[in-house]
Amino acid sequence: MSNVTVIGTQWGDEGKGKIVDWLASRADIVVRFQGGHNAGHTLVVGGQVYKLSLLPSGLVSGKIGVIGNGVVVDPQALMGEIERVTAQGLVVTPETLWIAETVPLILPLHGALDRAREAARGDHKIGTTGRGIGPAYEDKVARRAIRLCDLAEPETLEWKIDELLLHHNTLLAGLGAETFTKEQVLSYLGEIAPKVLPYACPVWDRLDEAVRAGKRILFEGAQAVMLDVDHGTYPFVTSSNTIAAIAASGSGVGPKSVGFVLGIAKAYTTRVGEGPFPSELFDDVGQGLGKRGHEFGTVTGRPRRCGWFDATLVRHAVRVGGVDGIALTKLDVLDGMKEVSICVGYELDGKHIDRFPSSPAAQSRVKPVLETMAGWNETTAGARSWAELPAQAIKYVRRIEELIGAPVTLLSTSPERDDTILMKDPFEG
Ligand code: GDP
Ligand code: IMO
Ligand code: MG
Repeated sequence: MSNVTVIGTQWGDEGKGKIVDWLASRADIVVRFQGGHNAGHTLVVGGQVYKLSLLPSGLVSGKIGVIGNGVVVDPQALMGEIERVTAQGLVVTPETLWIAETVPLILPLHGALDRAREAARGDHKIGTTGRGIGPAYEDKVARRAIRLCDLAEPETLEWKIDELLLHHNTLLAGLGAETFTKEQVLSYLGEIAPKVLPYACPVWDRLDEAVRAGKRILFEGAQAVMLDVDHGTYPFVTSSNTIAAIAASGSGVGPKSVGFVLGIAKAYTTRVGEGPFPSELFDDVGQGLGKRGHEFGTVTGRPRRCGWFDATLVRHAVRVGGVDGIALTKLDVLDGMKEVSICVGYELDGKHIDRFPSSPAAQSRVKPVLETMAGWNETTAGARSWAELPAQAIKYVRRIEELIGAPVTLLSTSPERDDTILMKDPFEG
């Protein structure tokens, strides 16, 4: 029996939320270990739609949800999300939601700095979600973050806010943005503290107990390998590591607890925000994918850029992410296409390469090398068994497996929880 860690293998929005929700019925605890409310995970259960940003997807099936120390938490966004899902009938209490006492908080000044910096970058903007994720992680490593446990210590809060404002107001003023007063920050934290503190606990201790008691843990990644701050398309990335190795440090368990690494890949590719995207389509084929796949960002509503499945990128993600098996999602979006293509390598300055280059200049110069095959007319939407899939769709899946060097162990054929085909139970290792 093993734990499972779910990560995205492209640029996010692969359907991690749907797969985590589906797997949650086999788990006891679901843990978020990085990112923040830049994530947007949509789950559809019996026609009811849940949109989660910070809350672990396992709460939808009544499992314990954990926000580990590697996450950055905007307390106001968290309370808003708890209110929203409670109105939908979910039960979120300190018994069902555990938040690490050591999470760094995202404050209104972080969002303000994120947006002011993006505006100042002009043509070189990253296309962030504007939610203060980058500035909050910067404060964490700069050792000036206000963490959840500080809210219970008014004496330390005072001098921490002084230090924080010295830094942030200097930057905000330099960028021509509004600055913050100590009173504003103190009153904001004073109001939020009693609402959020009841969820605070030593998560590492409770998870250690759970591991010893043989409980099954499902680690829920946000974003994806190509947005990883070390392994992605830097600087067009998010500010956290997104690979499976981080599930351990981001929740306070040992590295052996990560278990089976399930990489989620969409049957084509999408990206929100700026940055290189070799297999991007600018024609009606790309528009068709966007339309049929409803490719609009959950967090910002921006249309997602669409392109062919890039096997070279996913192979990279499989290797650095330590992926044991792939859950391939949105196969149904390709239904009815005359032809489908896969990016099998790149051309860079007249030479063939089979690895994504590291420099952003080279990444934006590569041209995709495409392999094209016949599509399928039959529908895969809603299929719940391998036997229901048309031969040509199976051929497409098999070719992807060959190219990325990992088996497809799960297939998703619609947004609905149960429209999922299991080939190998990841909890069985
Ligand atoms: P995440 O960020 O990785 O959790 O993915 P998002 O929730 O942001 O985006 C995935 C979108 O695709 C959501 O609207 C899901 O409801 C939807 N979705 C997930 N799996 C499938 C699938 O197999 N087929 C179709 N058509 N939609 C899917
Ligand atoms: P989920 O978990 C897709 C992108 C942003 C931007 C870059 C940096 O739903 O897959 P940030 O606000 O993190 O500093 O923005 O990262 N981004 C995502 N794109 N899905 C996500 O999460 C994302 N989270 C961040 O669009 O390009
Ligand atoms: Mg998303």
